[in-house]
Amino acid sequence: MSVSIQSFEHGASEAEAIARRLGISYDSIRVHRFPDGESLVTVAPPAPVTILYCSLDWPNARLVELMLAVEALRRNGARRLVLVAPYLCYMRQDKAFHPGEAISQHAMGRWLGGMFDRIVTVDAHLHRVSDLSAVFPGIEAENLSAAESIAAFVKEKNLPPSTLVAGPDSESGQWVSMIARTLGCEAVTGRKRRLGDRKVEIEFPGGPLDGRTVLFADDIVSSGGTMTAAIRALKQAGAGDIYVAITHALFDNEAEVAMHAAGARAIWSTTSVPHPTSAITLDALFAGALRRETARQGD
Ligand code: R5P
Repeated sequence: MSVSIQSFEHGASEAEAIARRLGISYDSIRVHRFPDGESLVTVAPPAPVTILYCSLDWPNARLVELMLAVEALRRNGARRLVLVAPYLCYMRQDKAFHPGEAISQHAMGRWLGGMFDRIVTVDAHLHRVSDLSAVFPGIEAENLSAAESIAAFVKEKNLPPSTLVAGPDSESGQWVSMIARTLGCEAVTGRKRRLGDRKVEIEFPGGPLDGRTVLFADDIVSSGGTMTAAIRALKQAGAGDIYVAITHALFDNEAEVAMHAAGARAIWSTTSVPHPTSAITLDALFAGALRRETARQGD
């Protein structure tokens, strides 16, 4: 079956880069927004296997347009639909912490799982669920890791061998240890306490850092509270230059200014979410995972 990729305007350059790597055609999806807030979505003619590239930052608006695109793609002949959502929204709320709370991860599992045959993402924020297949039972689901792409990018920066790779909490251990292994550096994770949406306290074990360079890594920066608290704690412990590498940059300019003011020398994020800090491309990672779609082309 032939394969093509489509995206909305917000993912065009990343989707085109994947299309070039796979040697498949790329088409853009057009959106007209009516004065009352509704959207008219127009897709291109789909291939039997159509990959839809749509990062789901700003999810409340994007999810509805994604749903409309799927309606049009299916009705116009797409037999297999693959969603590439580099940032997969609403994964953090995986249980009801207080009575009456919605479990957004379950809702996404049912909604997106009902629209697509396969979902591919990177560094999905999974806490109590270890496998993305548990979020999307009944369809193919893969959670890729950006750690190797981040490590390869940072390696080119020639940070000193004594660099400490740090993460805010035990959950960041998976990225931190992988990046540290590739760079041949030591790794440490902190103890984090969240006091509110933007207020976080972090402590790092170990003694004074005596001017050591630190590479701080995490999956998501949203309000920037975690990152800013971590940078302050590391600076207080005597860190020298602090560099930041993250997968999903969801933060605004104010948070970026705060992170630099706290002492971040440079902030590098992946292209998962188009952002002023985007520096680490993921098209090779996604193309690698999607190659089996094109390998089926003779089917
Ligand atoms: C939490 O467990 C994540 O790994 C991130 O540390 C968190 O989502 C960052 O959020 P914020 O930037 O709002 O502190």
